[in-house]
This record gives sequence, structure tokens and C-alpha cells, in this order.
Amino acid sequence: MDEIINEIKRMKEERNAVILSHNYQRPEVQDVADYVGDSLGLARMGAESTADVIVLCGVRFMAETVCIMSPDRTVLMPDPDAGCPMANMITAQNVLDLRMKHPDAACVAYVNTSAEVKAVVDVCCTSSNALEVVDSVETDEVLFIPDKYLGQYVQSKTEKELILWNGFCPTHVKIQPEDILREKKAHPGAKTMVHPECTPQVTALANVVLSTGKMLEYAQKNNAKEFIVGTETGMLYTLQKQNPCKRFYPATSLAVCPNMKKTTLFSVLSALENMETRIVVPPGIGKKAASSIERMLQIR
Ligand code: 13P
Ligand code: SF4
Repeated sequence: MDEIINEIKRMKEERNAVILSHNYQRPEVQDVADYVGDSLGLARMGAESTADVIVLCGVRFMAETVCIMSPDRTVLMPDPDAGCPMANMITAQNVLDLRMKHPDAACVAYVNTSAEVKAVVDVCCTSSNALEVVDSVETDEVLFIPDKYLGQYVQSKTEKELILWNGFCPTHVKIQPEDILREKKAHPGAKTMVHPECTPQVTALANVVLSTGKMLEYAQKNNAKEFIVGTETGMLYTLQKQNPCKRFYPATSLAVCPNMKKTTLFSVLSALENMETRIVVPPGIGKKAASSIERMLQIR
């Protein structure tokens, strides 16, 4: 293991590369990364980075977002097959049809969408800023795509009228209300934090509903010593590493995103050695998608 880690560090210098990792990545991948964070953090780092090469350890929409924001850099995905099933639940044509049906509504897209979809919406959001983004648009009616559960959560907090798409995260729907109730019984002093991609039945049982980045802030600032975590289980490593004196319990060990686990140390090294697989967004799409992302980054 040490040998491959040293080799990754050497190649990183040689290529003038940075490694960005999502919080759900394998522990050993997080440990070689220069930055570990949520979708918003990755988008910001991608926009700010001055490295020649950005190795994105996450899923395709995250690599595309970095590529859209930094079109002059080489963005590599160690495993190009790591997609997000939720992002594949809506196409650009679906969005255009929806916009025809609701011409007076602004359209907000969760970043968990393809570059083509981002190019035909008004503004993007992540789970960290969805409410602020929805509240920032000028229209009263808002098309919110593709996650119906994040949309329902935002709807419960905003005066705007949201029109939802039937998308969802196959990993987060595995977390059931019974899981939360069982863990609460087992750990009565624990605070429960869940991701807004969970169903409303699950979010209703939580103390807080947060993006992965905000879960890290909450766990650090809160006085509680124990936390029940309703999101992808990779998050437990990040939380435990940053808070060694606190205890974290997964709501269920079934909440694993297979796509987030595709990237390994071997594929990271191979990406740097062979400069593969390069993620490219056609400039026409990239330019339009960039304005939706930039608009989001200006909000928060
Ligand atoms: P975060 O932006 O909260 O990290 O979420 C990304 C994601 O894909 C959750 O499933
Ligand atoms: Fe997509 Fe869900 Fe995996 Fe996040 S956890 S990348 S939303 S499938």
C-alpha cells in the first residue's frame, strides 16, 4: 500500500496534478486526496484550482462540473464508468418538454445531472444550497429536477411552488424509517443527521437534514458525543477521522453507492500514469452549463 501511495504522490508532482475526492469515496482514496468534500466544495475547488491536471474521485457529474468550470485543465476520472443513476433519470429533452409545459417557471437543477441538462436550466444547486437557490429565483413557480425527495424537502421550507420530477437516489431510498427508529433506540443520546435525498418519512425522524459537507460541520460543532448517520456509509470514515472522540453509527449498512466505490488507489495511479480517462464536455454545452453553475456559486 505504501508503495502505491508514494507512487501516486510522485506522479502527482510530475503532472502538476491535484486529487479531489468526494466524502463517499473509499478511505484510502480520501487519504491520498488534496481535498475531500461535498458536491459544492468539489465544484468550488474545480473552479479555483490552478493545477494542470485535476483527478476527480467521485461520479461523472462531479468530473463534468469541474471540467465545465475549468475547460482549460485536464480533468481525469480514474473510473469513467462511475455514474450517478439519479443523474441518468432525466435528459435535456425531458427538461425542454417540461419547460414548454410550464413556460412561467424558472428551472433549478440539482448538480446530480448531466452537462446537457445543466445547459438547458436557469441555475444549479447542491444539497447544501438548494433552499437558498430556489428562494433566489424570481418566479413563484419553480421546476426542480431531478430529485423528488430533495425537492419535497425544499418544498417544506419555501413559499415557492415546486414542480418536481420523479427522480431519486437508489442508495438513499434504502434508508428506512425503521432503521432510524432502531438506531435511536440503541443510542438514545445520539443526534440523528440525514441527507435530504432520503425519503420524507426518514427526514421527519431526524434532528437535522444536511448535505455531507454540512454534516461534517454539525458533528464538529455539536456537543453530542454520538451521531446516527443517514447517508452513504463512506461518510462514516470522514466523520470518524475528523472527530476521533465521537461515535458515529450508520442508519443502515445497506446504504452503499456502488459507483462511489469504483475508484481505487490503483485506478488513481493508472489515471495519473496514462492521463486517462479524460472527461470532455463539448464547448457549446459547457458554456451554457457554466452559466447555470456560476449563478449557483454566486449565491453561496
Ligand atoms: P453532497 O453534495 O451532500 O455531498 O451529496 C452528493 C451526493 O451525490 C449525495 O448522494
Ligand atoms: Fe448518485 Fe445517490 Fe450515488 Fe449520490 S449516492 S452519487 S445521488 S447514486
